Amino acid sequence: MISIDTLTVRFGGIRALDGLDAQLTAPICGLIGPNGAGKTTLVNVLSGFVRPYSGAVALNGVALSGLSPRRRVGLGLRRTFQQELVVDELTAVENVQAIADHVSATRQSGRREVTVALDFVGLGERRDVLGRQLNLYERRMVEIAKTLIGRPKVILMDEPGAGLNESETDRLRRLLAEIPQAFDTQLVLIDHDAELIASVCIDTLVLDFGKRLALGPTRAVLDDPAVRRAYLGRE
Ligand SMILES: Nc1ncnc2c1ncn2[C@@H]1O[C@H](COP(=O)(O)OP(=O)(O)OP(=O)(O)O)[C@@H](O)[C@H]1O
Ligand SMILES: [Mg+2]
Repeated sequence: MISIDTLTVRFGGIRALDGLDAQLTAPICGLIGPNGAGKTTLVNVLSGFVRPYSGAVALNGVALSGLSPRRRVGLGLRRTFQQELVVDELTAVENVQAIADHVSATRQSGRREVTVALDFVGLGERRDVLGRQLNLYERRMVEIAKTLIGRPKVILMDEPGAGLNESETDRLRRLLAEIPQAFDTQLVLIDHDAELIASVCIDTLVLDFGKRLALGPTRAVLDDPAVRRAYLGRE
């Protein structure tokens, strides 16, 4: 569970987040809002890359404020980035193993986790292919596999569906839906694809200008007139 308590983030004169309160409890939560609404900023605050101006965040009741990104990884927080970070000169398995070297309990359990994660995302047979020879979808799968290592408690994914075609989005959707049960973790999903959000997210938080516009069961949130107005004219 993620708790967000009157969180404000300022960049100069801009309030990227503005007194945000929210509790994310569902196994899969959507995080949506127009461009610039503050979604990535929230992920950056949770993962420790941006320091808030005021307010606090917690993971399963443990206060995160002031902890380094590395400590937060130790507490079970994982994230993907809007720009992916697959290393071209390493194979798929080496990219994922590099994470296991830091977060898995032992070398042996690390190797096992890497195999489980690669099989889970469908890259079992592509494990020895170099990063630069993987296509966009496969690279995205490497990024997701990295988040599954080391018993994650919460995984934050920043637009994992961006740039994927319809059949790839479909495969992604089925994969994401299975993650909470398969890895005993919570998933927070940012995406601009309302269909993807509607089909996998139980609850959804909508941000607009750094404020909470809506939070609740995804279908009800997407049908909320205030949410529809926020998207009209700006997308
Ligand atoms: N490092 C930064 N310095 C200055 N302003 C920033 C910085 N990061 C974000 N912002 C501003 O904060 C606001 C929120 O940005 P953020 O990237 O969190 O939005 P977002 O909801 O992720 O948008 P998108 O859907 O385009 O990814 C925007 O006005 C953005 O320009
Ligand atoms: Mg963003």
